[in-house]
Amino acid sequence: MNILVTGGLGFMGSNLIRHLYRHYPDYRIWNLDLITYAGNPDNLRDIEEKESEIPFSKKRYHFIRGDICDERLLSYLFKEHRFDAVIHLAAESHVDRSFADTRHFIHTNIRGTHALLDTLRAYPVKRFVHISTDEIYGDRGTRDAADETSQFQPTNPYSASKAAGDLLVQSYIHTYQIPAIIFRPSNNFGPRQYPEKLIPLAITNLLLGNKIPLHGTGDYTRSWLFVEDFCRAVCLFLHEGNVGEAYNVGGAPKTNNEVVRLIATMLEKNPEESIEYVKDRASQDKKYLLNVEKVRRLHNWRNEHIFEDALAYTVQWYVKNRAWWEKVRATPGFQSYYQEQREALWF
Ligand code: NAD
Ligand code: TYD
Repeated sequence: MNILVTGGLGFMGSNLIRHLYRHYPDYRIWNLDLITYAGNPDNLRDIEEKESEIPFSKKRYHFIRGDICDERLLSYLFKEHRFDAVIHLAAESHVDRSFADTRHFIHTNIRGTHALLDTLRAYPVKRFVHISTDEIYGDRGTRDAADETSQFQPTNPYSASKAAGDLLVQSYIHTYQIPAIIFRPSNNFGPRQYPEKLIPLAITNLLLGNKIPLHGTGDYTRSWLFVEDFCRAVCLFLHEGNVGEAYNVGGAPKTNNEVVRLIATMLEKNPEESIEYVKDRASQDKKYLLNVEKVRRLHNWRNEHIFEDALAYTVQWYVKNRAWWEKVRATPGFQSYYQEQREALWF
């Protein structure tokens, strides 16, 4: 299989490429990534180095720097490499950033998804796995868990742009018979997550001796999915998913207070002294909750990882890989953004 992964230098994309590289030695993986602030070449440095010693015809991994909105580049790549499958992760992915500047979100999450879909009309593939999100269903604070037929009710520019991308994929399935599968995962966590998101921010702040800025009361629920289970689910959909279907895959529902207290305890800090409550988000969804019956029923899906164990593993990864996150946190992009985020200066 010749597989194109978009956004493979980001958190979930790089974990996915590692997973594919480890478990599917016959696959050739092409990673198309623009290297935005969230794209980190260090995430796949070891694979790059290993591959540099292999002749071109035998290489299993190739990196291409480029924008998924660049239709000419897409046409060239699809024509040249005849991909069998595409796994589309490239996105602007951080809610807090979407308050300040929505343009990048519209560009990548909507226009980029559209450019890929149009390219697929000219250069068909066997499978297009589109990574959507549980956030498109909106706040489930006073409602039941969302199943795949629930109404889209996004509440912030990030989730609205992802909802638009998801709808575009649905329309291309119906109109052009694109063999797409839509995967709506819940919040992921694990190694190599950019430290602007709650879990890596909490761990690295505590390791630096700082407090964790918790929005509002901290009493908001997210369903935490370990990234390795996400990768397993992508492979399930790639190989056995029913074309045209959307699938939810969720994790362990926990409040932000619960999560950061656990992290503090794992790092042998006093939880009460580890948190600084800050002004709430401009638009805060109180709860995300997914109904995951469909994937269980149709594919006998079970998450393999227990939240507390996976969180302990993740905490240890950041303890052992200090150089990785110190380099990210030292960039001017992180420094200026983090200061605004900490002071809740959303726009
Ligand atoms: P991330 O922000 O860590 O990485 C995004 C990657 O996409 C980066 O490598 C970036 O350089 C690349 N990229 C951005 N714009 C691009 C463009 N125009 N062209 C090419 N590459 C571009 O994101 P992530 O957390 O790994 O999320 C991956 C996907 O999963 C996204 O689609 C996101 O919406 C979705 N998702 C994320 C979560 C989560 O908890 N992180 C949960 C559900 C769904
Ligand atoms: P985040 O990791 O940004 O993911 P998402 O917004 O996609 O769910 O945030 C998870 C939750 O943690 C959300 O309720 C906002 C909250 N949060 C904080 O309280 N402090 C922070 O510094 C961050 C980044 C998030």
